[in-house]
Amino acid sequence: MVIKKMLALVLGGLLCMNCFAACSKPAPLLKEKYNDYFNVGVALSKQTLAYYDESILKNFNLVVAENEMKWESIQPSEGVFVFSNADKLIAKAGDLDMQVRGHTLIWHSQTPSWAFAGSYEDAEARMLAHVTKVVTKYKDNISEWDVANEVLSDGDANELFRQDSGWYRACGSNDDKFVEFLAKAYKKVHEIAPDAILFYNDYNLNFPTKRAKAVKLVQKLLAAGAPINAVGMQAHYDIHGLKMTDVENSIIAFKDAGMKVSLTELDLSVYPGDYSGAPYTELSAELDAKQADVYGELFALCRKHKDTVLGVTTWGVADDATWKDNFPVKNRKDFPLLFNVSAQPKSAFQKISNF
Ligand code: G3I
Repeated sequence: MVIKKMLALVLGGLLCMNCFAACSKPAPLLKEKYNDYFNVGVALSKQTLAYYDESILKNFNLVVAENEMKWESIQPSEGVFVFSNADKLIAKAGDLDMQVRGHTLIWHSQTPSWAFAGSYEDAEARMLAHVTKVVTKYKDNISEWDVANEVLSDGDANELFRQDSGWYRACGSNDDKFVEFLAKAYKKVHEIAPDAILFYNDYNLNFPTKRAKAVKLVQKLLAAGAPINAVGMQAHYDIHGLKMTDVENSIIAFKDAGMKVSLTELDLSVYPGDYSGAPYTELSAELDAKQADVYGELFALCRKHKDTVLGVTTWGVADDATWKDNFPVKNRKDFPLLFNVSAQPKSAFQKISNF
């Protein structure tokens, strides 16, 4: 009898120890949950870099600078390079063992107008000098680059490139010349950082017309010898009416074009894309739940296509700091991210974590 009691005590003790160990074991981090799928990333700015707690950031294994690696930030005037803010992001990534996305080298926006000025030869020389300086500086820190961002037109099907780009105009608004210009950029990045994954990045690539343009651009770049590897779907969506079939058809189309795919700037506005909707001062339980469902469907879709999808990056960490508060409507509070205004995980974070 005594032996039975002793056995019961020992077994009970072992059970408690196991329970304690299990209960005290920290919940797996998001990046650990996605170890077998793809990178999970966030955009940080010079402001947010300084204040989000590492307990949140260590959920992620990839980071991208929201603005600090754009031309206007890095080379504000010709020949003057300012790397201090970008360096802070690189240092933070090193501290947290995060990969870094380089965003972005060639973009019509947030690029000083002097970069495009003068002859084609002038513009090309400036572009190659910028790319060489920046990519050389970070070739050991940045694993993937948005070499070109948003060069495609949102116009009708037969207009491939946006007409308001200073880079496009520097090429005489000639499609073939612009493809040659872009191909030179991809070749230069690859020459300096041969292991980096080279992206074309754009928004609305879930829409069939723009998807087709992106495929056409990839094909033209490949034909021009550009070492392009992947397409970045920015994924600035909203929770009203996003068609998962559109997103999936784009992932498949880019895969069929020989590309990998990442969702590079994911946020899910709680307002309809038509700019309607009375401003909310807080996120209702109903909208929170609906947003969680859409985040859940998007991450499930990316897990389904894990052989093609390299990463999913949200364009910010928490709802307290999002560009969506000023776009498309200025000073209209939005709630598009995985953490709330108090930097606490939302239902969406739980949803994508538990599968
Ligand atoms: O740096 C100036 C500061 O000196 C000034 O005091 C302040 C007030 O005007 O403006 C600051 O510049 C702002 C900049 O972000 C840095 O904070 C610009 O006004 C503001 O327009 C700019 O917005 C950025 C936007 O790109 C510009 O197009 C957003 O933060 C950034 O999230 C957004 O990111 C882009 C991606 O790079 C490409 N895909 C679309 C995405 C959303 O537009």
